[in-house]
Amino acid sequence: MVAAVRVHKTGGPEVLTYEEIEVGAPGQGQVKIKQRAIGLNFIDTYFRSGLYPAPSMPFVAGNEGAGEVTAVGPGVTDLKAGDRVAYVAGLGAYATERLLPADRAVKLPDNISYEQAAGMMLKGMTAEYLLNRCFKVEKGMTILIHAAAGGVGLIACQWAKHLGATVIGTVGSKEKAELAKANGAAHTILYREEDFVARVKEITGGKLCPVVYDGVGKATFPGSLDCLQPRGLFVSYGNASGPIEGMNLGILSQKGSLYVTRPTLNTYTASREDLVKTANNLFDVVGKGAVKIPVNHTYALKDARKAHEDLESRKTTGSVIFKV
Ligand SMILES: NC(=O)c1ccc[n+]([C@@H]2O[C@H](COP(=O)([O-])OP(=O)(O)OC[C@H]3O[C@@H](n4cnc5c(N)ncnc54)[C@H](OP(=O)(O)O)[C@@H]3O)[C@@H](O)[C@H]2O)c1
Repeated sequence: MVAAVRVHKTGGPEVLTYEEIEVGAPGQGQVKIKQRAIGLNFIDTYFRSGLYPAPSMPFVAGNEGAGEVTAVGPGVTDLKAGDRVAYVAGLGAYATERLLPADRAVKLPDNISYEQAAGMMLKGMTAEYLLNRCFKVEKGMTILIHAAAGGVGLIACQWAKHLGATVIGTVGSKEKAELAKANGAAHTILYREEDFVARVKEITGGKLCPVVYDGVGKATFPGSLDCLQPRGLFVSYGNASGPIEGMNLGILSQKGSLYVTRPTLNTYTASREDLVKTANNLFDVVGKGAVKIPVNHTYALKDARKAHEDLESRKTTGSVIFKV
C-alpha cells in the first residue's frame, strides 16, 4: 500500500482525502515510479472541483511529478529500474508511487533535481509551447503576460526576456510585482487596482501588443482583447478566475481582426517527438541558467488540502511542489 490523495466526489479543497491505495505491477507499456517530488498545478483544482471531468471516480489527483523508475512493464525498452525521470501525464500524481505510460516519461538530466523537475515540467513545457510555437515571440516585441508572478508566469517572463521581448506582467500585489520584475518583467501592472488596458496603452505608447497570454480567464476578459494590436493573437490558456463563457466571435472583428486560440499542453506534446523536443528545450534554458525555476512553496502530501486552498486564494507565487 502507498500513500495517496484521492477525490471521491468533486468539490472544494476539503474533498482531497489522504489515504492508502494499492499500486500494482506495471502493465504493457507502463513503468512504476517511486516519486520524489510532485507538482501542484491550477489544473489540479479544475479536476478536483469538477470544472474538468475526471475520466473515473474516485481518482488520485495531480498530473506532474519526478522520481525513480522501480519496475518496467512488458514492451518498455528505453527505460530501466533506477532511471531518474519526470513527467506530465494523466491523473495519478499525488501518490508516493504510481504507474505511468512509459512514453510520457522523459529522462532527467543530471543537472536537474527532482524538486526542480516537479516544479517545471508542466509549467515550463507550457511556457515553451506558448512562447515558441503557439505564437513565436521574437526580439523587440512587447508582450502581455497575465498573472506574471504565478507558476507559469514566472517561467514565461524569464523565457520571454531571454528571447529578447519586453514583458508587461499583471500581478495581484506589490510583492508579486517585485518578484515578476526580478524574473524578467520590464513593467508590472497591479490589475486589482489599476486599469490594465489603460496602463498597457500607456506603456506601449499606444502601439499595444502582438500577443496576450491569459491564464486568468473571466476576470481579464474582454480587457485582454483591448491590449492587442490589429490582427493580434489572444492566447486564452487557463481559467484561474473562472472560464470565459459565451464569447461572440463578432468581438474579434470589432476589435481589429483579432485571432484567438485556446491551446493545451496535451495537444502540443501529443506525439513522443514533440514531448521530447519540448522537454529538451526546457532542460536547455534551465541548464544554461537563462530560466530559473522558483520553487517557492513546499508541502507534505498529507497537506494537499492546504496547498489547494493557498493556490486558489492567490497566496502562492512561482512553483509549488509536494515533497515525498
Ligand atoms: N492550457 C495549458 O496548456 C495550461 C498549462 C498549464 C497551466 N495552464 C493555466 O495557466 C494558469 C496558471 O497556472 P499555474 O498552475 O501556474 O497557477 P498560478 O499562476 O501559480 O496561480 C494562478 C494565479 O492566477 C491569478 N488569479 C487571478 N485571478 C484569480 C482568482 N480569481 N483566483 C485565483 N487566482 C487568480 C493569481 O495571481 P495574482 O494574484 O497575481 O492575480 C494566482 O496566483 C492557470 O489558469 C492554468 O490552468 C494552462
